[in-house]
Amino acid sequence: MKIVVDAMGGDHAPGVVVAGAVAEARERGTALILVGIEEQVRAELAKHGDTSGLPIEVVHASEVVAMDEHTMAVRAKRDSSLMVGMRLVKEGRADAFASAGNSGAVMAAALFALGRIPGVERPALGSIYPASPEPCLVIDIGGSWVKGVPTRSLYHFELMIALCTKVGFYLAEEFYWWNKAKLPSPAEWVTVRRIRVKDAVDPVWWLSKTPFPKADNRRVLAPYSDSMKTLLRDGYKAKKRPSGWDITDKFSKDHGGAIPPNILTFSHTESNSRYLQRCRDEGLAPHPARFPPALPEFFIKFLTDPGDLVLDPFAGSNVTGAVAESLGRRWLAYELVDDYLRGSTFRFDRVVMPEENAEAVSAAGGQTTGGQAPG
Ligand SMILES: C[S@@+](CC[C@H](N)C(=O)[O-])C[C@H]1O[C@@H](n2cnc3c(N)ncnc32)[C@H](O)[C@@H]1O
Repeated sequence: MKIVVDAMGGDHAPGVVVAGAVAEARERGTALILVGIEEQVRAELAKHGDTSGLPIEVVHASEVVAMDEHTMAVRAKRDSSLMVGMRLVKEGRADAFASAGNSGAVMAAALFALGRIPGVERPALGSIYPASPEPCLVIDIGGSWVKGVPTRSLYHFELMIALCTKVGFYLAEEFYWWNKAKLPSPAEWVTVRRIRVKDAVDPVWWLSKTPFPKADNRRVLAPYSDSMKTLLRDGYKAKKRPSGWDITDKFSKDHGGAIPPNILTFSHTESNSRYLQRCRDEGLAPHPARFPPALPEFFIKFLTDPGDLVLDPFAGSNVTGAVAESLGRRWLAYELVDDYLRGSTFRFDRVVMPEENAEAVSAAGGQTTGGQAPG
């Protein structure tokens, strides 16, 4: 594989770019084409001793698209390192193009020179985030009813079984989120005909790619019950219970809280948050199906460490991202509806929207946000 490197792109170019290219060619033998103002590129190469035997070519490009230039500068600068480099790929003289320069201009140059992959309407910038080798998938799938009859849909079970048997996930544990504030539904069966009880739990499947995903229940301990607090205070006499349980004196050790069950009880408590206030101020309807922050908080604390990456592909108002940020995790969020994405920015102190892509439908913690504060 031969890679074109934009020698003029990025901070301290061409010096650091050439230094990186020489190191790569020396250490791994990667074939590279350095594209840029030839005189400057060769002057930099000369600083690295004898490079004549390295698989590095230099191709001249007389123009440079600067970091602060408009994306469309590539249209006018046909002889820029970006356009010359892309043409080398187009002509089959190289296999890939890399630049640390003006990202928008790189994308535009790729679009002009190489076009789009069939079926892709708009190009997108992607970045690789280092992630855990043992990622977990936590799905709040919700339960539903078969339309028109008082029987439950089996979809959420079928999905979980398919993810395990066909995709290779393990079911680490199933949780049920009990929303005490949920209104009785479905009304026809629960409040009119009175033949079913209120459906108040959401199944939440915790799936993992290994049987031993990273997790620590000490980070999600629940407060002790009053009776346990009394027991810890007054002590407990170790003995065998009539049920056969051998309750040892270890039982009376204070671990800082109780190990929580897999039934999670959180109500929707977001009634006067900054998010709702800003939605009111801006005349934007709040997202109708927001998580209580305690739900993502439980799984983020339980399954990740500070610095880990949390991804919510159906972010809505991005409660997940806001909680992740407040806990020092990196986050990525995707949302289809532009207004929901716009509203989600109210959860953060500072948001930078890419100027030319204000309708972007994704955002990333640490890049577009600078604040804390779940709503
Ligand atoms: C139940 S809501 C999530 C609410 C979110 N948990 C919160 O707390 O605000 C699901 C969201 O997924 C979005 N969505 C559906 N399909 C999508 C897709 N293919 N890509 C991105 N977002 C999608 C919907 O627009 C909706 O806002």
